[in-house]
Amino acid sequence: MLARISEVVDPSKIDYVVSNHVEMDHSGNLAKILELAHDAKVVTSPNGEKGLRRHYKEDWDFVVVKSGDTINIGKRTMQFFLTPMVHWPDNMVTYLPEEKILLSNDAFGQHIATPERFDDEIGWDVLYEEAAKYYANIVFPYGDQVKKALDALSGLDIEIVAPGHGIIWRTYLPKILEAYQKWATNTAENRAVIIYDTMWGSTEKMARSLRAGLEKAGIPRDHA
Ligand SMILES: [Fe+2]
Ligand SMILES: [Fe+2]
Repeated sequence: MLARISEVVDPSKIDYVVSNHVEMDHSGNLAKILELAHDAKVVTSPNGEKGLRRHYKEDWDFVVVKSGDTINIGKRTMQFFLTPMVHWPDNMVTYLPEEKILLSNDAFGQHIATPERFDDEIGWDVLYEEAAKYYANIVFPYGDQVKKALDALSGLDIEIVAPGHGIIWRTYLPKILEAYQKWATNTAENRAVIIYDTMWGSTEKMARSLRAGLEKAGIPRDHA
């Protein structure tokens, strides 16, 4: 990553490092970056500053932002929106209006390891599963806050959503936004679980018949 950054800019000339989230999968490399980008200011939310100070015990040059604040960096502007509890109290997202890119932090992320960068290089079916699994594991308890974040971002002109981890959304953006709207309101789908044990296969036959009946009634088949 440092090599790639160095191809674009000499790290010692970096003015701002944006820290959207204190959690280690997002900020773990911050101290190393700031050693190289020694003149950089650290842009973060109020809770981000508290968290970074607690974690790293460093008196970095913090710029604390609130929702809607902007920083112009020449050809581009960075605009910040606080998205507390999606996934920690400090979370915020960064929007680049000139590029129509939202750096969405934990929101819209997935825990997926892939050499691909963009959603259409993987396909919606796999990504829907991964994004749903991620949502269920990371942000599920915070549906109300997700809804608030979606409302706050709804006025923005967004073409690309680049989460802190996972692939970048560009083709399936309307689909993932629609999925988040559904998840945030805890809209449940019709599902059934059939648990059975079978010694001679008879109960299994019954379980399979039950499943066939449920599928016929329009309850989708799961992968398990
Ligand atoms: Fe997180
Ligand atoms: Fe994360």
